[in-house]
Amino acid sequence: LSTSEVDVGSMQPGEQVSVMWRGKPVFIRYRTEEEIAEAEAVDVSDLPDQSARLDVDPDAPATNEARSVAENPAMILMLGVCTHLGCIPLSEAGDFGGWFCPCHGSHYDTAGRIRRGPAPENLPIPQYEFISDTTIRIG
Ligand code: FES
Repeated sequence: LSTSEVDVGSMQPGEQVSVMWRGKPVFIRYRTEEEIAEAEAVDVSDLPDQSARLDVDPDAPATNEARSVAENPAMILMLGVCTHLGCIPLSEAGDFGGWFCPCHGSHYDTAGRIRRGPAPENLPIPQYEFISDTTIRIG
């Protein structure tokens, strides 16, 4: 399938779902207030990768705002594929509260940005849109 539709209406803060899209996992996380605050507190100039890695806007800087879902900024949606060599990162793990790739030790923060380890880029964000109040279409 080139697109995938996900109902996120029942998600609660602190929950993550993983759906397959084009053979790859896509993580959708409904972040807690604390996770959002951590992501917002980061200065983009301190990040290893300062691009938001948005399919739809290659020039966007890696702010929390740019990487968040516009319709619900508590949410973030991104490919769950480590930008080092493609393992699937674990959620709520690592030194920055986001995701941790156990293959070679890459730590991603609560906005999916690489913070430490061999991965060169932030977790990429594919094109998506809300097609109803609660349903996201990826792709
Ligand atoms: Fe994730 Fe190497 S594949 S750190």
